[in-house]
Order: sequence, then structure tokens, then C-alpha cells
Amino acid sequence: MIIVNSESAGAIERAAEIIRNGGMVAFPTETVYGLGADALNPSAVARIFEAKKRPSFDPLIVHLCSKEQIGEFCLRVNKTAERLIDRFFPGPLTLVLPKRRVIPDIVTAGLDTVAVRIPAHETALRLIEESGRPVAAPSANPFGYLSPTDAGDVARLLGGSIDMLLDGGKTMVGVESTVVFFEGKTPVVARHGGVTIEELRTEIGEVKVIGNSAIRPVSPGLLKRHYSPKTPIIIVRDFRGISRGKSASPGFLAFREPPEHEGGRAIEILSKTGDLKEAAVNFFSALHRLDASGVDVIYAERIPEKGLGRAIMERLRKAACR
Ligand code: TXA
Ligand code: MG
Repeated sequence: MIIVNSESAGAIERAAEIIRNGGMVAFPTETVYGLGADALNPSAVARIFEAKKRPSFDPLIVHLCSKEQIGEFCLRVNKTAERLIDRFFPGPLTLVLPKRRVIPDIVTAGLDTVAVRIPAHETALRLIEESGRPVAAPSANPFGYLSPTDAGDVARLLGGSIDMLLDGGKTMVGVESTVVFFEGKTPVVARHGGVTIEELRTEIGEVKVIGNSAIRPVSPGLLKRHYSPKTPIIIVRDFRGISRGKSASPGFLAFREPPEHEGGRAIEILSKTGDLKEAAVNFFSALHRLDASGVDVIYAERIPEKGLGRAIMERLRKAACR
């Protein structure tokens, strides 16, 4: 694999050529790093599933570089989706819409819908534009593991199996895009992410959340356990009540304040000022460090479930699920 600074001369052009030739390029988006291939080339897409060891029933997001492209790949865009596109594209929002036949079944795991998004990241947009293809891209991590928020994570986790890694530094949002699908005309959030429920509601009024939705999840990727480090995680309300019975070397994922009486140990603080945006940016990288630090358990403090706190807690619960 070659690692190239995304701003170096010719980097995007080389990456785009790899995509056109059926290869795989890891690239930064505003949310997390993606592992991209030509969405119209089934064998290129198959390599993504192979590299990630991702089950074939879990569909991929197709990344586009302009709103005009949406109609090329989606059959119908309802009024609510149109408003969301106007307001949040490009940005950390993914919409699940009826698909056109040009999108191969392997991308959508045989569903008749396709997930589309336009990333708000210069490198990603230029790569998609230059390649002249829609780019299918999951997060660039082995299936089920923590998502990568900088190029070092990608190199460590998947370095052996990708053709090129565009290094664009740390991602700006830190959690994946919010996934919205439609039950008839009703928008339903399938995954909390970079666009908050509050922001969605301001734009389109009431929005359902899959947990409260009567129908079964349409999103096969919504597994209970996901985003998991190798080290077990225990979620606690605060660090005071921890009974430390069996753990010889615990690690701590704190929201604002370090645990008392634990100086010098593996401690990560997500945001000293309690800023949920900053906490989201730091979330996955803090867990990557704790997982690599040799601790035998990670105590993670609960985070207020508003705004981006919902996306963080959704990931933390899945990460803690055994
Ligand atoms: O921020 C992001 O969305 C990142 C960056 C790289 O763009 N990508 C990402 O992809 O998180 P991935 O594959 O890790 O997650 C895609 C999610 C999965 O939960 C999948 O099940 C859901 O989107 N999804 C994809 N296509 C779908 C469809 N047709 N219907 C329902 N859910 C779908
Ligand atoms: Mg993922």
C-alpha cells in the first residue's frame, strides 16, 4: 500500500485512477475514513467486503460529489428527502432512497434501496469527481471494530489490503453520518451520527428513531454489537462507584473530568469543557489508544444524550455489547 499526503501534487489523480481501474483507496471524509471503490464495478466492491471481512448482507453507502448525481442513482426523491438534501448535503447525513438498476446488487445487499451521501470534505469530493464514478465506501476498519479517524488507524488496521491511503489528517466530525430511511413518507433515523436529531427536527419536524419504530430495522448493518475494541468496555454513570474486583489494570474513558485517585493510568478525556462536538471528534481515537494500551477493561463514563451525545452513546453501547 502507498500512503500519500492528500494535498501533495497528483495524489488525487493517482487515487482516482486506482478507483477507475477497480482498486481500493482509503480516503478521509468529514466523519471517518472510508474505504472506497467504484460503486458500479461489482468485483471492486467485492474486494471491499473481503478486506473488511464484512458480511455480504450489510449494504454500503454510495458517495457522490454533487446533488445533480442523486437522480442518476436514485429512482424517486420524496419532498422530505429533498429538503434534507437542500439543507444537509454535503454533510454528515446519509439518505436511503429507492435505487436505480445501475447500482449493482452487491452494493445494496440485494435491497431495492441505496444509501447515498455527499461528504463535506475537499479530498473526498475531489476524489469522487476526478474518478468520474460514484464511490462505494464503508468506514475503513475491519468489520465490527472501532472506526478510523486518522490515517494512522487505517494503516494499522487495513494497511495490507488496500492499494492507496490518502492521508488527510484527523477527521473533523469523528462519528459517522446519520442514516435516515423512509417508512412510506415518514423519515426514520436508523443510525445516529453527525447531523443531530435536533437539527433534523428543526428542518422537517417530527422524525422517528428506529428504536421507537414499529417495523423491523430495514438496515441489516444495525447490529447490536459493533464499533468494538478488543478490550471489554463497562459503561458507568460515574467513576466513583466502580467496584474494581478483578481488574488489575483498568483504563478510563472520561467525558470531562479524570477519575479521582487514578493518576498516571490509561485515562482519556473526551472534552474538558463538556463540548459534545469535541467529544465526538475524540471518541474513536481515544478508544483506539485505550485498546492499544494493554488495559484489561475500559470503564467508560456515560455522556449526556442530547445533540452529538446520542451518536456517541449509541456507539458506546454497541462497543460495550458482548
Ligand atoms: O460517515 C459515514 O457514513 C462513513 C463515511 C466513510 O462516509 N461510512 C460508513 O459506512 O459509516 P458503513 O458501511 O460503516 O455504514 C453504513 C451504514 C450501515 O449501518 C448500513 O447498514 C447502512 O449504512 N445502509 C447502507 N445501505 C443501506 C440501505 N440500502 N438500507 C438501509 N441501511 C443501509
Ligand atoms: Mg462502519
